[in-house]
Amino acid sequence: MNPPAARYSRISGTGSYLPPNRLSNQALAEQLAAQGVETSDEWIIERTGIRARHFVADGVVVSDLAVEAAKRAIEAAGCTASDIDLIIVATSTPDMIFPSSACIVQQKLGVQGCPAFDVQAVCSGFVYALTVADAMIKTGAANKALVIGAEVFSRILDFSDRTTCVLFGDGAGAVVLEASDTPGILATELHADGRHVNILCVPGTVSGGQILGDPLLKMDGQAVFKLAVGVLEDVARSVLAKAGKTEADIDWLIPHQANIRIMQSTAKRLKLSMDKVVVTVDQHGNTSAASIPLALDTAVRSGKIRRGDTLMLEGVGGGFTWGAVLVDF
Ligand code: UT7
Repeated sequence: MNPPAARYSRISGTGSYLPPNRLSNQALAEQLAAQGVETSDEWIIERTGIRARHFVADGVVVSDLAVEAAKRAIEAAGCTASDIDLIIVATSTPDMIFPSSACIVQQKLGVQGCPAFDVQAVCSGFVYALTVADAMIKTGAANKALVIGAEVFSRILDFSDRTTCVLFGDGAGAVVLEASDTPGILATELHADGRHVNILCVPGTVSGGQILGDPLLKMDGQAVFKLAVGVLEDVARSVLAKAGKTEADIDWLIPHQANIRIMQSTAKRLKLSMDKVVVTVDQHGNTSAASIPLALDTAVRSGKIRRGDTLMLEGVGGGFTWGAVLVDF
């Protein structure tokens, strides 16, 4: 008897969505100055590479962004929402404590029945979600997965803290990942180190109808920066080795879009020219779990990334979490 045919997963479509309200550094600095918080376009560009970010309007929730990105990915994949048999949303800013934003996305897409759940790994959320979807497709638990990264970080920013509130933005990105007899996802690897829970967190919670603790984002930027640079190099090398590839095989590095200096440092350590790095942090800011699929879709739609390119997706963030996915696009 012949062994069963190998089963892989492949990205068949990408999509993204940004809320229309775009705020330049200058506009944000003016708003902050009005409340006595001092910052400048120069400082933000020099230390982070960020020039602008998008913020949602009042009343818009993460599933609203997620569903727009999802519809675009589904259209690009040439299928319909009813073909989707798994929905995973990576987010740290869900619509509600429960049910999951994935269930709300499913309802907004007008479909029922398939499994739907959220993954919470902060800025590594999308690579976590993609890895889970890849594993479920390989085992036959799903055939066509919708994998979304979506965030409304503007809702958890402390606008009196200039060290964090200038860094983040809102948005969503999505892919359709489907079963294939040739590999699209070549290798994956995920990590976490809970000893660093406190360097990037929103420590508040809800109990007995009250908010306990501070429900706004706290970050030790320098500690995160140092850890990020080291783990992004290590995990990239490890994933390349698993796939039997080297840095020279990477056509595009798509790192989490937190800070241009982290991306430059990672590229240098991997001996990659910045011409091979997809950079959207300048226009989107740090959109946490949305940043990688947003960058991917932006580069696909601009014609930069083409079918057959080898992509290294790398996430890093709160937890402390990190991971990478090597993709034959
Ligand atoms: O998404 C998860 C992953 N997150 C990250 O990867 C973020 C990693 N960290 C970073 O990107 C950087 O550490 C930051 C962008 C957050 C900060 O950059 P930095 O070069 O580490 O700056 P710093 O914290 O050392 O601050 C330098 C100075 C300080 O002033 P003094 O003490 O030197 O007088 C800050 O008070 O810059 C000051 N500063 C600001 N000045 C103007 C901090 N924030 C601002 C600001 N505007 N917004």
